[in-house]
Amino acid sequence: GKVAVLYGGTSAEREVSLKSGEAVLKGLHAAGIDAHGVDPKHQPVSSLHKHGFDQVFIALHGRGGEDGTMQGLLELLQLPYTGSGVLGSALAMDKVRTKQVWQSLGLPTAGYRVAIKDQCSPELLAAYLTELGGCVMVKPANEGSSIGMAKVDTADALTDAVAAAFAYDNEVLLEQYVVGKEYTVAILEGRALPMIRMETPNTFYDYQAKYQSDTTQYHCPCGLDEQFEAELGEIAVRAFDAVAASGWGRVDLMIDDAGEVFLLEVNTVPGMTEKSLVPMAAKAAGIGFPELTLRILQTAD
Ligand code: DAL
Ligand code: MG
Repeated sequence: GKVAVLYGGTSAEREVSLKSGEAVLKGLHAAGIDAHGVDPKHQPVSSLHKHGFDQVFIALHGRGGEDGTMQGLLELLQLPYTGSGVLGSALAMDKVRTKQVWQSLGLPTAGYRVAIKDQCSPELLAAYLTELGGCVMVKPANEGSSIGMAKVDTADALTDAVAAAFAYDNEVLLEQYVVGKEYTVAILEGRALPMIRMETPNTFYDYQAKYQSDTTQYHCPCGLDEQFEAELGEIAVRAFDAVAASGWGRVDLMIDDAGEVFLLEVNTVPGMTEKSLVPMAAKAAGIGFPELTLRILQTAD
């Protein structure tokens, strides 16, 4: 069959998606697949059948690609697509609902409050900051690649950071700041791949550290003992299943200095660029990039 690789799109992560899509196209071609790039920004997805496509590889990040809306359109068009379905995509895109689901199942995640546009005064935000221990990560509820995020520890900075985050979303997550190390667990075919630890001189693993920096360090093996890593892999798979994600993805988490685990979020279309984490984890498991793209393609049904 002929495969459409959807990439680009209109979200704030368009630039990342263009890179992911180009890499995926190269990988699929190397694996012998008849794949073609389609940018929904310029070409209607509803015309895919007409152009002979019968399978879709979603390499779109963020809203309109990773949040269930594209998945819903493809369901209605009866085109098989990679990765999570409508529910899993929508839930995982929303960091607030993701945390609520995890909490309801006893999965570990940091404390939080939610700021809603036009419903939060500086006084309320200041109270939240105190309740959360005086230092928080500010995150638009539905964004990716650290866009709109900030670490703040004063009420004034919080007011500014929340206002800035409202440019991306009407709901903003204030998450208790975790002092510790950041890890990620790639998931393929229901199993955890080797964990990676990300280390950056920046305040956190932000957009610059993710895509532009030469100073970000990736540790794989991640440095944890084997049994602990295996346990974390199981927690990550449970966290992934909890939001109804499927096929492939990536679960980000932190571990504080006391060894306590805090799940951060699920990415249902994680980056596939040269610097991205899923390809790195796959490589550590002996899965080269073309094989990885092929196995992700096989999640399309
Ligand atoms: N949201 C970016 C693409 C990632 O999770 O890799
Ligand atoms: Mg994300």
